[in-house]
Amino acid sequence: MNKEVKVADNAYWVGYVDDRKVPFHRLTLEKGTTYNSYLLKTEKATVIDTVDISFGKVFIDKLSEYIDPTEIKYIVINHVEPDHSGGLPALANKAKDAVIVTTELGAKELKEMYRLHDREFLIIKDGDKLDIGGKQLIFFETPYLHTEETMITYCIEDKTLYPCDIFSSHVATYELFNDLATEDITEDFEVYYQLIMHPHRPYVQDMIEKITNLEIEIIAPSHGYILRDNPQKYIDIYDRMSKPATEEKRALILYSTMTGNTRNIAKELRKGLEEKAIDTKVINIKKNVDIDEIKQEIENSDAIFFGSSTRYADMVGGLEEVLKELARMDLSDKLGIAFGSYGWSGEAVEVINDYLKDSNLKVVDSSLIIKSTGMDDLKFPIRIKFSPGEAE
Ligand code: FEO
Repeated sequence: MNKEVKVADNAYWVGYVDDRKVPFHRLTLEKGTTYNSYLLKTEKATVIDTVDISFGKVFIDKLSEYIDPTEIKYIVINHVEPDHSGGLPALANKAKDAVIVTTELGAKELKEMYRLHDREFLIIKDGDKLDIGGKQLIFFETPYLHTEETMITYCIEDKTLYPCDIFSSHVATYELFNDLATEDITEDFEVYYQLIMHPHRPYVQDMIEKITNLEIEIIAPSHGYILRDNPQKYIDIYDRMSKPATEEKRALILYSTMTGNTRNIAKELRKGLEEKAIDTKVINIKKNVDIDEIKQEIENSDAIFFGSSTRYADMVGGLEEVLKELARMDLSDKLGIAFGSYGWSGEAVEVINDYLKDSNLKVVDSSLIIKSTGMDDLKFPIRIKFSPGEAE
């Protein structure tokens, strides 16, 4: 792609469009993605974020269409993950005197990742400003969106927000601007939000509060479309999707099963909960479970059911790994309920209850255990009120 992509006066897109089905973390991005980097060609020329580590050379070539990279004075790194900081070693190698601008944790991580111990860093804190000669930048720390070290950059003169992963979408677009898109981009935008940002939604609300008084005419994120048509629409989508639900309650059923009886109880529980219009997720916990993922599901739920069959007077599968984490979590606003099948001797439910009592979950004392393959022993409906202290 050789055409000039101008974002604002003296501000250019210098990224890379990856139109393959891109492998990304544990996913495949069916529509590909872009790695958006930006050049502010001011007196003290500044690059904001770079590209994926695989495209360092292409990045330098693209940047060189606009400026001699040795002239770059500042390199802003909003987020250290290698799909955005990956071009930094190649750029830092050319722009030998450029100062790297990032958060304190970002600097620590970048030094380690790319052996940049000898480079000059400018450590920013929330609200810090930087004059780059003709434009002024303001930085805001946005921790956990979606990793701990992240920040966002706002250009006062251009009224442009550079939020890196935030407000992104995974689409390989050569048009680059949302007003040039040939189809509605809202779904891709929301899917990205759900996938990357939603697990951190309290921090999304913090970020929105920080930008609320900024006049934003363009949002220039680091994946997918640059949002210059109605950027407020996309801020509103984040606001709506990250607001805590006031009425809706969510249940989570985690179980390990030996012959399938415990799974059958899980299914019945789900049916009962969904009949009460309670959004319910069921997960079979096997060995080598992704504990962080399960902890996130627990955080997102109001009531958590833990179920296991009994074998050798204990639980089966990977449930115990999850239960061990509970004592380290603040779960005081959630309910915990044990269930299981009798198996050989029925102790699994007792063991689960012991773990629940060691946590600060509000434990619902129930009789959710079956002694045979039939479901008749199970007492339905169980009654659960979701306010702590009212469980029965
Ligand atoms: Fe697009 Fe968190 O990297």
